[in-house]
Amino acid sequence: MKNYKITKLQVQNFRNLANQLIQFSPKINCILGENGNGKTNILEAIQVISSKKSFRKNQSFPQFLSVDCEKPEIIFSSVFIDFEENPFSYSSKMTAEEMAFYQNGKPIKKRIDIKTVFINPFDSYGFHTNSSDRREWIDRYLSLLDEHYKKTLSRYQTLLKFRNTLLSKKPPKYIEQLKATIEDFAVLSFEITQKRLQFLNEMAPFMNQTFKELFLEVHDLHINLDSRIGSMSPKDIALMYANQLEKDIERSMTSYGPHKDDYVLLFDGFNSFDFCSLGQQKMSYLSLLFAYIELFRYKYSSYPIVLIDDVSGELDQHRWRRLVEYLEKSQFQVLVTTANEKFKEELERIEGANKIHIKNGSIISQ
Ligand SMILES: Nc1ncnc2c1ncn2[C@@H]1O[C@H](COP(=O)(O)OP(=O)(O)OP(=O)(O)O)[C@@H](O)[C@H]1O
Ligand SMILES: [Mg+2]
Repeated sequence: MKNYKITKLQVQNFRNLANQLIQFSPKINCILGENGNGKTNILEAIQVISSKKSFRKNQSFPQFLSVDCEKPEIIFSSVFIDFEENPFSYSSKMTAEEMAFYQNGKPIKKRIDIKTVFINPFDSYGFHTNSSDRREWIDRYLSLLDEHYKKTLSRYQTLLKFRNTLLSKKPPKYIEQLKATIEDFAVLSFEITQKRLQFLNEMAPFMNQTFKELFLEVHDLHINLDSRIGSMSPKDIALMYANQLEKDIERSMTSYGPHKDDYVLLFDGFNSFDFCSLGQQKMSYLSLLFAYIELFRYKYSSYPIVLIDDVSGELDQHRWRRLVEYLEKSQFQVLVTTANEKFKEELERIEGANKIHIKNGSIISQ
């Protein structure tokens, strides 16, 4: 898999963005402007045309559609370059019903899968405080790397839903059907757990390295999977599910499985949530993400497009400087936004970076 870089984007009717050409450098792009002017909207538009999805939990066509639109459709027009720097035009028409894609002006049935990593200011807090955010994080990024994992996870979730529907019937009348799901459920649980363990192992060598490169500090950063079935065979897992069936019937739900797993981020051996300051949590989280980006490159000799939405909060000026220096050294395409005047000064110092100033949804200088 080789990834792409974006060089041009123009949108019609997407949130507050003007119908205007925005040009990007294949390296660093700084998007600068005051609060509420459209910086995040540019990143979101790139994410939507790349993956059909937005980073927001609440994402729907009416939300994307500009409140000032004359026609209920959104047009994304863009130019990407492939791994050999060949440009191609890629556009999309989004309506309430569907999203159609065009490459070099011709309709295509299967959209191009463009990998992006979105880093936003709230993710670090969510990752450190909610187990569901941690699970979602691992599932999202592991799925981006491994199509097979994505499919296995989706099969697991479908079977879990089916089991929970049977378990919710009172009085219990589907015991035989539930027993019949156990073997498949155990095999899927085993495959998911093994893939997760392998992913965390592969991340490990990159984590300390990125922390040190990013912040010039040596810390031991480690992420572990907290799972009951980590060392069990599919047969043992099936036995465990069988023994648990009575309790599951009582509780009307599948009380254990990979959907209940959790992850522990260890900072110098301590649980980072209990031990770290907010700034250190942010630093650990950014190191985790950049470790992921390096693992992506290691596996695919290619980088995802990195979209960084104002992460300057909680970090001091010294850390901002290190972050900027890290981005300057990196090979990936990055778009970084800020409304923070001081962080903006750091970004403006980057030689050769593409600086995009935005006001009321319009690019005022580039
Ligand atoms: N559907 C929509 N139609 C028109 N404008 C919208 C729509 N959805 C959001 N907006 C506007 O987009 C603007 C927010 O844009 P965005 O989140 O990109 O700002 P920002 O520059 O990232 O600000 P901040 O620095 O505060 O993060 C707001 O002014 C909001 O009113
Ligand atoms: Mg924003």
